[in-house]
Amino acid sequence: MSVPQHIAIIMDGNGRWAKKRGLPRNAGHTAGAKNVEKICLAAKKLGVKYLTLYAFSTENWSRPENEVKALMKLLAGYLDKCVQTAHENQMHIRVIGDINRLDAKFQKQIVEAERISAVYDDLNLTIAINYGSRDEMLRAMRAVGRDVKEGRLAPEELTEELFDSYLDTRELPDPDLLIRTSGELRLSNYLLWQLAYSEFYFTDVPWPDFDEEELKKAIDTYENRDRRYGGIKEE
Ligand code: FPP
Repeated sequence: MSVPQHIAIIMDGNGRWAKKRGLPRNAGHTAGAKNVEKICLAAKKLGVKYLTLYAFSTENWSRPENEVKALMKLLAGYLDKCVQTAHENQMHIRVIGDINRLDAKFQKQIVEAERISAVYDDLNLTIAINYGSRDEMLRAMRAVGRDVKEGRLAPEELTEELFDSYLDTRELPDPDLLIRTSGELRLSNYLLWQLAYSEFYFTDVPWPDFDEEELKKAIDTYENRDRRYGGIKEE
């Protein structure tokens, strides 16, 4: 009956939400960004400790330039606001993904948001930006390789726990529940290592319409499975 400690979300369907209303795709992303604020508050209220959101994937660079620009602007704007609300909501903000490809100002903003909010622990909000799970694992493997080459690590010392510590998510527990909105049944290169034992919840509701009620439904489904199987960690 326990609330999932860590929920990871693939926020899909902004474009389709906008198209249905005769709006440009970017209007869907704006609505999606607004919804992020609401879902953070709802998650905190429901007792969720960690929320990890897929905001921009390594594959998303291939979208039209104007859409990439609009998404980056939305993310930077959101992060600004987030820092203000972090104090009110006691929220620790983290970003996962390779931020080196982002513009210098945005990178600075990210480092600053992480630093300022590091004292909080009520809700841990992690935003995946320029994130791809395969890329994350390759970066981790390169770091492992360097440590082996330079004598800091023997290959046989590498365990699952130690490999965890090379990943971007090193400070986070593995997700208990993955939610994907808007009907697709794929992982799209998201947290492939970390989701090994997680429950999955798919809904047709597009991200901008995924509200507190929908989040509760996902959590209820998770809790019912937890009850039926006696806890996912015991399988
Ligand atoms: C998928 O919708 C969504 C994205 C590629 C980006 C997610 C971004 C946001 C929700 C807004 C900004 C995020 C934060 C954290 C403030 P899609 O465009 O693939 O939708 P479609 O499949 O219907 O076309």
